[in-house]
Amino acid sequence: MSGREEDTPPIRPGRTATEGFATLRVGRLLLTLAAVIFLVEFSIMLAIHSFLFGLPDPLGALLDGGILIIVLIPTLYVVVYRPFRSEMAERLQAEQALRASEANYRAIFDAANDAIFVHDANTGRILDVNRKMTELYGYTAEEARDRTVEELSAGEPPFTQEEALRRLRRAAEGQPQLFEWLARDRWGRTFWVEVNLRRATIGGQDRLLAIVRDVGERKRAEQERDRLLAELRQANEKLVELARQREDYARMISHDLRSPLTSILGSAAMLQRRLAGQGQEREARMAGLVLTSARRLDSMIQELVESTRLESGILELHKELADPCGLLREVVQGVGTPEDRGRIQLECAEGLPELLVDRERLERAVVNLITNALKYSPPTSPVVVKAERTDGEVQISVSDRGVGIAPEELPHIFDRFYRAAAGRKGQGLGLGLYITRLMVEAHGGRVGVESRLGEGSTFRITLPIHGEGIAEHAA
Ligand SMILES: Nc1ncnc2c1ncn2[C@@H]1O[C@H](COP(=O)(O)OP(=O)(O)O)[C@@H](O)[C@H]1O
Ligand SMILES: [Mg+2]
Repeated sequence: MSGREEDTPPIRPGRTATEGFATLRVGRLLLTLAAVIFLVEFSIMLAIHSFLFGLPDPLGALLDGGILIIVLIPTLYVVVYRPFRSEMAERLQAEQALRASEANYRAIFDAANDAIFVHDANTGRILDVNRKMTELYGYTAEEARDRTVEELSAGEPPFTQEEALRRLRRAAEGQPQLFEWLARDRWGRTFWVEVNLRRATIGGQDRLLAIVRDVGERKRAEQERDRLLAELRQANEKLVELARQREDYARMISHDLRSPLTSILGSAAMLQRRLAGQGQEREARMAGLVLTSARRLDSMIQELVESTRLESGILELHKELADPCGLLREVVQGVGTPEDRGRIQLECAEGLPELLVDRERLERAVVNLITNALKYSPPTSPVVVKAERTDGEVQISVSDRGVGIAPEELPHIFDRFYRAAAGRKGQGLGLGLYITRLMVEAHGGRVGVESRLGEGSTFRITLPIHGEGIAEHAA
């Protein structure tokens, strides 16, 4: 600590060893004085003896003086000098130890990478600072001791003297304080610090220790992060808004295009029946053509709307437990024309577990595979729809003996708007498989395909069995 008396009280009350040794010198002086007195007395004795006996009696005088030397000097030595000297030696040792520990303390104090302030616990006055403080604030240690906390703070609320004193008071009452503070250096530059304020006993005195860390870098990073987060939030809001617009658009298309189509479908079907009933075969066929085209148009609109919904990420699955065989039976009964249905063979394994799925969405995914199989294979060839259990999963497959897909096209077949060369004669948008993939992936499943050009294709949907994963985890 600083060399000032109030900062460094001596370890024991009383005189220091240095003072003690000064006294020791006085002791030596006294002994010398005793010797001088002895010499003077010896001379006086010599004179007295000469006067009394007419001749000098150095022996007698020596004897008298000897008594003094024999009695006085050892007495002084034993009673005063020796005990005093050993006590002083002890004190000297203690003082050296104190000085060494103070030097250690100072070295650690100054080596710290945080600025450290030692405050008077009662007045809050700065008593001492370490080297890092002088570097951080630009004041010398001497100057720093004369500063108020106000001068080392930004000054504007809440970084004021009152607030600082309030914190100091709290810490003095035994509540350690940890807070961020806008500090100010000697040139008026402000910077962020983190202050750790706590009470401590130093050299037997009640002190407050303020450990101050420069957090400018962290603060800047935090501000940058906040800024980026705000930007991200804004961008996200825009995206959500866009998605909402897309959904509105999809709903509009779906409604506005499909409602006239519904009346075309209804009227064409009725017309076809009536004309056929009246034996007008040619006209009935034409009405049938209108019906088929209108159906195709309807399914294309549905695909467009569905894919728009999937892409905007607003697909919400309404999951329920469903028996896979029941679901497939329903799909097969509802797909295509009666002739189409005649080509489909359903092979469903027994005892398949129920699946947790959005029925409507999964049906749509399977319908897309079946309509493709029907579309891209000869009109009389069979289409096999299978459901079986594999390792912890249920696999639904659709196989045909149709045109097949070239190996180099297989990796793209589930992409948006992709149409393979072999099947391009048939009409379509290239969205069906894309929708199937997104639907299945939304269920945590996956799609796959095997195909040979000119021989046929097998498309697969693999879905996790509800609860199976959890059971495995628990085991
Ligand atoms: N069963 C299949 N056999 C042969 N090719 C198929 C089969 N299913 C799909 N394809 C090919 O994959 C392409 C993409 O299919 P899909 O996404 O359903 O679009 P679309 O049927 O509207 O053309 C089709 O254009 C076709 O070339
Ligand atoms: Mg298709």
